[in-house]
Amino acid sequence: MRLGVLTSGGDCPGLNAVIRSVVHRAITDHADEVVGVEDGFLGLIENRTRTLTLDDVHGILTRGGTILGSARVARDRMREAVSRAKELADEVGIDALVAIGGEGTLTAARMFSDAGLPVVAVPKTIDNDIDATDVTFGHDTAVHVATEAIDRLKTTAESHQRVMVVELMGRHTGWIALNAGMAGGAHGILIPERPFDIETVCCMIEERFARGKKFAIVAVAEGARPAPGTMKFEHGGTDLYGHQTFGGIGNRLSAEIERWIGKESRPVILGHTQRGGSPTAQDRVLATRFGWHAVEAAHEGAFGHMTALRSGRIVPVPIADAVARLKTVPESRWIEAEAVL
Ligand code: F6P
Repeated sequence: MRLGVLTSGGDCPGLNAVIRSVVHRAITDHADEVVGVEDGFLGLIENRTRTLTLDDVHGILTRGGTILGSARVARDRMREAVSRAKELADEVGIDALVAIGGEGTLTAARMFSDAGLPVVAVPKTIDNDIDATDVTFGHDTAVHVATEAIDRLKTTAESHQRVMVVELMGRHTGWIALNAGMAGGAHGILIPERPFDIETVCCMIEERFARGKKFAIVAVAEGARPAPGTMKFEHGGTDLYGHQTFGGIGNRLSAEIERWIGKESRPVILGHTQRGGSPTAQDRVLATRFGWHAVEAAHEGAFGHMTALRSGRIVPVPIADAVARLKTVPESRWIEAEAVL
């Protein structure tokens, strides 16, 4: 089999571990030829590929980013490409494709698969918002980076008797803010699933200071928003490709807290540091398992499916199930008991 592999959408720690695993499994166990497609679906459209050998993936298990590159494709161009799916596969010379990516990539993978290009998808995102899999690789690394940042901010916050507002990634869901906030002992956690009331946030901080505490840490997901009518805030705009952009809540919230409680507050926007660098051991293992199973799925003809972790096992699930809804933080008394405001 000539098996294509591409990485698409935002990068994520563990992408290289998947590529390496695909190459190893395909070449060593199936005598496949592996074709690396550069810059995601853009490379497929523009026929930019290179053969991947075992040597090409030597030493990449621990490296962040993706050796294949990643890019976004405008919606119109993608639709046009889907209509030529089979033609593109012939031009590039592949029998099947392993597409590694997040929500947008999964949607594209499903469209290509329906249009006749056999695709197996591998889910990735630091946000952990893909339904149908218990977790995605990249999330654990992002939570580690965010937790370390919170740990570090505590000592400087305490020295200056300040509030620190840490804005973490998570456009639609608050998994990173929740997990890192809990791990780092943040005093308030704000997530998109639960619009927050600025008064509640400020009261919590004021009560803390009144109890003699010298600082407070608020972890806020970039997609968190104030409850209607409680604080003026509008999220970002749109990027080059017409996708909504996020960010700005950390700055806005910090300024608002300072105004309300009359104590210094500083925003820290962690941004893309959460996506960079070497994956954690847990992410390397999950990424490696996903790659291995993606090759098996291709050989079993499970196209239109995605590798998913379910109760410790890797299973193929229809991509349609994975893109049907986002995996959001559920309502739970246990989460209530944490610092989610
Ligand atoms: O989906 C992953 C993610 O890191 C989000 O948390 C974040 O909003 C977005 O990607 C940022 O994308 P970009 O790299 O295009 O700024």
